[in-house]
Formats: sequence, structure tokens, C-alpha cells
Amino acid sequence: MKDLSRIKKFQQALPDSAYLIEDPTQIYYLTGIKLSLGRLLITKRGYKLYVDGRYIEGCKKKLPGHVFPRAEKKIAEKLYFDPATTTYASFLANKKLCTTLRPKKNPVDQLRWIKDKNEIAAMKKSAALLWECYTELTKKLKTGVTEIEIARAFEIIALQKGAEGLSFEPIVAFGENSSKPHYHPSDVKLKANDIVLLDLGVMKDSYASDMTRVHFIGKQTAQMKEIEVVVKESARAAIALCKPGTSIGDLDRAARAVMKKAKLEKYFLHTLGHGIGLEVHEGFRIHHKGPDAKVLLEPGMVFTIEPGLYLPNVGGVRHEEMIIVGAKTSENLFFE
Ligand code: GLY
Ligand code: MN
Repeated sequence: MKDLSRIKKFQQALPDSAYLIEDPTQIYYLTGIKLSLGRLLITKRGYKLYVDGRYIEGCKKKLPGHVFPRAEKKIAEKLYFDPATTTYASFLANKKLCTTLRPKKNPVDQLRWIKDKNEIAAMKKSAALLWECYTELTKKLKTGVTEIEIARAFEIIALQKGAEGLSFEPIVAFGENSSKPHYHPSDVKLKANDIVLLDLGVMKDSYASDMTRVHFIGKQTAQMKEIEVVVKESARAAIALCKPGTSIGDLDRAARAVMKKAKLEKYFLHTLGHGIGLEVHEGFRIHHKGPDAKVLLEPGMVFTIEPGLYLPNVGGVRHEEMIIVGAKTSENLFFE
């Protein structure tokens, strides 16, 4: 990434600070460099990347003049750090690099809420690849197969089709296991008339995708049918509001209103969705009570809408879409 406009935006957001960034995703977002460990110092006028011997040669080529060996002594008088991503061990180590060390919210997280053209292109690629892998995976849903076999098959398909990896451990739940929203696949076998819940995601061009679908293998009970209809209707109600100017809280309220009408709201156990980008969960959470409830949608925001209803010991349904907000409306990256 030759474009260092994000560092400039950072400097504009914190004009008088010397700020130390250690989170590898934030460093990648700002510099285009992937590291497992490093420190990025951003000051009013410049920036320096401190790395150890494993990275020094590669980084010097990418950012000539800005790369230095891992700092052990003072690099600034007053230094700020990101309290959300700095460990206590790093805090103690970083005390040696300055006279005063203070926490300050990192403006990078907020910049990441709005995706630029290149990011949107990458997210569309990630979602399209996920859809292709998911379609291929559904051919393997036959009685007798285990949850773990389906989860492994998904990983193999994704890597064969060009994913860099998965954006999270696949959630594959058969039958009543689907009532646990973040279930871990086991060696349970698929039986006739089971529900199958698949929550899957891949990484492509460094961007994450995330989608949930349910399948019914054979007959569906009236109770599960009702839940499926209400969940999909909730998703549609929220997605219909996805355009610039709608508040995040209103998306959640719209989905909940559908559940409330069906007297099922108490079975909704999580937030309606989350921002997504370099990480599968990033930025905001979609909820009417959360800290982001009053935030208004803007073009370039990308997030999931994923209502779910979970009946203990019976089963659950979640339906998850990825939405990109456009200039006037929004785009759903998947299909029904
Ligand atoms: N798909 C996993 C999650 O959103 O937590
Ligand atoms: Mn999700």
C-alpha cells in the first residue's frame, strides 16, 4: 500500500499526540504491512515503524526511511496508547519509551467504520467466495455425516477455492444443537428431519465475510417453520431500513418488532449484527441499547444483519446477511 492517506487522517484526528499502536490489524490498516509484532509511532509530522529482526528487511523495502529496530529507550516525552488493544505487559514495557504514558481512544477504529472503494471491492470478493464455498458445501449435507466433517469440509473447500483462511471457526449445528448460537461442532451425526445451521466465513484479500443459513433435511415441524418465517421477516424488516440516515438502534428495533408481534422476542439472544472488515467483528454492534445505538448509517459502512431465535432443547434458526450501505440505499452481498 503506497497510499498513506490513512496515516494522514490519523494525524488530523489526533493533531498533538505521539501515539503508539501495537495491534497488528491496526498497523496493517495504516501501513499495508502485515506483522505479528511491531510498534507504530505516529506523531504530528511523521511516523516510525519499530520491528524486530524478522521483519526489518521486508519493512524497509516497503516503507523506506520509516523503519527502525525494536525500540528499547525513550522515543517520545509524552506518549499515548490504545487502552482497548494494549496489554498490561506492553504497558509496562512501553513506560520505558517515554516520560508519561496515557490512554487515549484510537481514532483508527472509527476510520475503519467507513470502507473505501478498494475495501468494498475486497469485501464483495470475500462474500462472493463465501457464497461459492457454501453452495459447494451444501452438497455434502447427507444423513450420517458429522458436524465436524462438515466444518472440516468447509475449510478444505475454502482453501481450495482461494481463501486465505477462515474468518472464524465454522459453526455447524445439527438438530437441537442449533439452539446454542455459538455452538462448537461435535461428532454428532446428521439425522433425517434435522435442522442444519451453518455459520461460515472466509478471508479474501485480507477482508472477512460472514453468513448464516439453515437447512431442513426432510420434514420441518410447524414450530421450527414458524421460527424460520419470523427470523427471515425480522431480517427483511431491518434490511429495508439500511440506508444513510437510519440509526443503528432502529435496525434492531425493526427486527425486534417482528419477533415481538409473534411473541418470540425472548428467544433472541444476541445483538442484531456487527461491523465487519479486516476482522469479522469490528467497529459497532447493532443493538437498540448499545453504545452505538444513536449512530447513523453512512455510505461505506459494512455490517451483518443476523436475527436468530433459539428454543432451548428444540433448535434454533439464524439468518445472516452482509450489507453495504450505498449513497441512497444498500446492497445485500448474498442471496436468499
Ligand atoms: N458468525 C459469527 C459471529 O458473528 O459471531
Ligand atoms: Mn456474524
